[in-house]
Amino acid sequence: MTRYSRITGTGSHLPPRRVTNADLTAQLAASGVETSDEWIVERTGIRARHFVDPGMFASDLGAAAAHHALEAAGRQPQDIDLIIVATSTPDMVFPSTACILQNKLGIAGCPAFDVQAVCSGFVYALTVADSMIRTGAATRALVIGAEIFSRLLDFKDRTTCVLFGDGAGAVVLEASDEPGILATDLHADGRHVGILCVPGHVSGGAAMGDPLLKMDGQAVFKLAVGVLEEAARAALAKAGRTEADIDWLIPHQANIRIMQGTAKRLKLPLDKVVVTVDQHGNTSAASIPLALDSAVRSGRVRKGDTLMLEGVGGGFTWGAVLLDL
Ligand code: UT7
Repeated sequence: MTRYSRITGTGSHLPPRRVTNADLTAQLAASGVETSDEWIVERTGIRARHFVDPGMFASDLGAAAAHHALEAAGRQPQDIDLIIVATSTPDMVFPSTACILQNKLGIAGCPAFDVQAVCSGFVYALTVADSMIRTGAATRALVIGAEIFSRLLDFKDRTTCVLFGDGAGAVVLEASDEPGILATDLHADGRHVGILCVPGHVSGGAAMGDPLLKMDGQAVFKLAVGVLEEAARAALAKAGRTEADIDWLIPHQANIRIMQGTAKRLKLPLDKVVVTVDQHGNTSAASIPLALDSAVRSGRVRKGDTLMLEGVGGGFTWGAVLLDL
């Protein structure tokens, strides 16, 4: 009998501090940086994002999301035999956020590691967990995207600081006789390292270089729509399905215009696209599981639906996961 992996529970967590465009515009104006709610909504679709307060780490957000996913799956932390955390904003240089989170869940022994693929991190992590489950290396995994991008933002750079937010989303992925995950498709192109990066590094106990986010937004935008279409088509072809089989497109939540462009190329109506960028901003690796959980909990996405999850971001990285919920 073929062994598959299947999502049995979803969860998410947002830090309580909600920052609207009006809040952010006022904060930036105080330091001489000019922006507006109109510009942000028109160019990105973002209306609000959540920011953590001091003392909160990616493992805290991820552990809260994991608890919700475990509850939805009817599982206990002790039932988990693999933890993968997708993050570009780890608690520490090392050990991994996954190990810190494992300890916060009160369990020990199972493998736990981070995946660093920036905004594609969740589809990368889900693909790794799917592979490990299908080969028998794991049976019941927690796959988490957790990010605190607010700490990477240059609040003097209006072209980036209005775009990102903090949050976490999680799924429980279990071995199953039925799919589950139907096909995955991952890519990277390191020739584009410079278009979205945090170029600093740690040396001699200090941050060297620039530790804040830099992005050539237009270059990212142009690449994103094309590769998202390609990855979706590749995953569909591997699974022997077509666009018509997709009930919901759940793309990385960076910009409503990228999502609209991708949906158009895949000939999907916009009401089949899960959109949370308006309320969450771009939460990098957390954005897809946050959007998935919000759609599941609102009752829009249901068991049996066919979902296309798609990530794109720094690296340059991109990928898709096609699954039956
Ligand atoms: O998560 C990883 C993936 N990341 C992404 O997908 C991001 C992809 N890129 C984008 O979403 C868009 O390129 C942005 C939202 C970043 C920018 O939108 P755009 O339509 O490409 O704007 P632009 O960069 O062409 O800027 C247009 C104008 C410029 O002024 P001038 O040169 O025309 O006078 C900018 O200086 O808008 C100005 N501008 C702003 N104005 C008010 C840039 N940022 C702001 C701002 N408020 N926050």
